[in-house]
Amino acid sequence: MEDNNLQENKTILLAKGIKKTFEKPVPTEILKGIDFRVDEGEFVAILGESGSGKSTLLYCLAGMESPTEGSVEICGKDITKMTDDEMAKMRRTYFTFVYQFHNLVPNLTCYENVILPLALDGQKESSYKEYVQEIMDYLNITKRANSLPRECSGGEQQRVAIARAIVCNPKLVFLDEPTGALDSQRGQEVMEMLKKLNEERKVALVMVTHSPAHAEYATRIVRVKDGKVDDSETSV
Ligand SMILES: Nc1ncnc2c1ncn2[C@@H]1O[C@H](COP(=O)(O)OP(=O)(O)OP(=O)(O)O)[C@@H](O)[C@H]1O
Ligand SMILES: [Mg+2]
Repeated sequence: MEDNNLQENKTILLAKGIKKTFEKPVPTEILKGIDFRVDEGEFVAILGESGSGKSTLLYCLAGMESPTEGSVEICGKDITKMTDDEMAKMRRTYFTFVYQFHNLVPNLTCYENVILPLALDGQKESSYKEYVQEIMDYLNITKRANSLPRECSGGEQQRVAIARAIVCNPKLVFLDEPTGALDSQRGQEVMEMLKKLNEERKVALVMVTHSPAHAEYATRIVRVKDGKVDDSETSV
């Protein structure tokens, strides 16, 4: 796998003054000026109450929502000013996103779901087969390779989604409540896997969660309250 040409600077994400106002149904400022930084290899948990703006912040950081004000640089490039094509390339090579409800393609097997980004990128199966096998072993889903998502447990499906998110060797993965749809046992398994991924493979993670216990798996917790970072409790 090719390296992602990181700059010498170890900061991979730097967001400044993020504000977000939704116009409908009535204009409401949801994010009220957030600075956010992620260094290479960090695991940052974003913790906060329902409605505090966690997902909105994550979407702004990942370029899925445009902030009303502020800048977001990933690996030194301002993603708020990118064209769709530039953004698509960034998404494949630098960072990926894992949703709460895993978003697997229902009529593809788990293996086919995992290789989807590589297949869409036009890569030949022979060039990645071994590597994908290694990732699926690593996430303990090899025995599910030929199963459809609906034949798997929630935890297995989420691990397939995580495998799909890391096959392109990203430096940074965003996760919106990756354990939100799982019972506590399955949730814990996914958290252990994420911690291992961060520690052993040095993938930086930015994870939104409701769960203080799951936030403890991270190397740093950022608390969001009423659209702002709550510095009074933020641990570094
Ligand atoms: N596209 C949108 N249009 C209008 N309002 C929105 C939109 N997306 C989110 N909001 C509002 O912004 C606020 C924050 O939503 P957000 O989804 O960021 O919260 P959250 O902290 O992720 O909550 P939860 O923990 O329940 O997922 C909510 O009041 C929500 O209704
Ligand atoms: Mg949310």
